[in-house]
Amino acid sequence: MQNKVQVQQNTRKEIAQENLRENSPEIVIRSMTLEDIPAIVAIEEASFPTPWSAESFTSELKDNYLARYYCLELKGNVIGYMGLWIIMGEAHITNIAIWPGCRGQGWGGYLMRNIMQSMFRSGVLRLTLEVRVSNITAQNLYKGLGFRAAGLRKRYYSDNQEDAVIMWASL
Ligand SMILES: CC(C)(COP(=O)(O)OP(=O)(O)OC[C@H]1O[C@@H](n2cnc3c(N)ncnc32)[C@H](O)[C@@H]1OP(=O)(O)O)[C@@H](O)C(=O)NCCC(=O)NCCS
Repeated sequence: MQNKVQVQQNTRKEIAQENLRENSPEIVIRSMTLEDIPAIVAIEEASFPTPWSAESFTSELKDNYLARYYCLELKGNVIGYMGLWIIMGEAHITNIAIWPGCRGQGWGGYLMRNIMQSMFRSGVLRLTLEVRVSNITAQNLYKGLGFRAAGLRKRYYSDNQEDAVIMWASL
């Protein structure tokens, strides 16, 4: 009984949060620009053991015509971002991160759901990504959005030789 009440409370909270997001002008998902890079690198460095540099993001934005990068902005502050490479109807997610102080509040799911909807509208049929075997939080996020594990890339991560789980989702 307590579980049922808890589930109902959680569902109400999620609906309230979703309404807030749908109707709020303070929450924006937009394309990343060169001016965003310092904020993005700060999130990147707080999120990954081998963070991408400002130069890597600059080159992605300026030189990689396959790349699409998006920021999630809350009240004028960038709190998260996500990047993809789009190759022949498939999108490869390169990175997603939310500022540590804003995690666990639904923002990662919100950002991914919106980008996935936008990908679907532009003709993308499948998405793929790699995630550390130890990164259960991210794997839970992806599973909740319809991704399924499809194999391992052995010793994929150079810092600790950790394996990557390859995941795919169909839109
Ligand atoms: C992974 C990440 C983007 C998730 O963003 P977030 O805003 O914290 O996630 P949300 O609050 O939207 O939660 C979405 C789902 O993720 C999972 N999740 C979130 N926090 C979790 C935690 N602490 N433990 C386990 N699962 C968790 C849950 O499945 C959750 O769904 P639920 O709320 O319905 O249970 C964020 O933790 C992050 O930036 N991590 C560091 C960078 C990273 O690991 N990126 C992924 C690289 S592959």
